[in-house]
Amino acid sequence: MSTVVKTIGIIGAGEVGSQIARAALKVGYDVVLANSRGPETLTALIDELGPGARAATAAAAAAAGDIVVVAAPLTLDNNLPVDELAGKIVLDTNNYMAWRDGHYPMVDSGEKTEHELRQEHLPHSKVAKAFTHIQAPRLFLSASPAGTPRRHALSVSSDFPEAVEVVTRLYDEFGFDTVDNSPLSESWRSGPGQPAWNAHAHQTREELAANLAAAKHGIPRP
Ligand SMILES: NC(=O)c1ccc[n+]([C@@H]2O[C@H](COP(=O)([O-])OP(=O)(O)OC[C@H]3O[C@@H](n4cnc5c(N)ncnc54)[C@H](OP(=O)(O)O)[C@@H]3O)[C@@H](O)[C@H]2O)c1
Repeated sequence: MSTVVKTIGIIGAGEVGSQIARAALKVGYDVVLANSRGPETLTALIDELGPGARAATAAAAAAAGDIVVVAAPLTLDNNLPVDELAGKIVLDTNNYMAWRDGHYPMVDSGEKTEHELRQEHLPHSKVAKAFTHIQAPRLFLSASPAGTPRRHALSVSSDFPEAVEVVTRLYDEFGFDTVDNSPLSESWRSGPGQPAWNAHAHQTREELAANLAAAKHGIPRP
């Protein structure tokens, strides 16, 4: 049975988290946003977002969401509310950037993707890599209705088909086509520095599929 989504929890209320919140509210979802400093620090953003948005702790946002977006960098100490995310589809927007996150040898060597690490951190959740190769403002600038010629496409990767289905539906509602680049072990193909990531300004479904196929191990990350 398809996951019914009314409320989206969003852990991370920075550039991407706040923009996903705006896009979600626009198409009728409620959102519950969290950052690392506490809900009281999100008053201005919640006021701007208006009805349908509220702030909470990360654990409460995770508990409230029918699905949950994690729009915060991965940290190896696993700072996410694992129990509250159990049983849920979790959309991971993270791009591993060594200059910001430090070096993760397992990812650097190609042994695992950062999204497989996120899945290991959340063993009872269904993680999907989503929204990673689009700049936050383009969630509005590049959106267009289904059937628009040269509609912009985004990739999704997950080990769970039901998570791919949820992300595909959300992308379409937000104004984007989807290319399924599953499982998570293949998600490096859309990572920083790869052709699909470099073409983030615009790529159709066909162009994105070709860019994912053209990915090569060992390309330096920015
Ligand atoms: N910016 C983009 O256009 C873009 C596009 C695609 C993907 N990404 C990726 O998406 C991720 C987020 O990027 P961003 O640009 O949105 O970063 P950002 O503007 O720095 O925002 C990060 C947010 O995550 C919150 N956060 C960090 N750790 C947390 C925790 N343990 N619990 C709850 N909230 C936590 C921060 O809270 P505080 O402010 O309280 O610290 C902040 O609200 C990164 O991995 C980035 O590479 C970014």
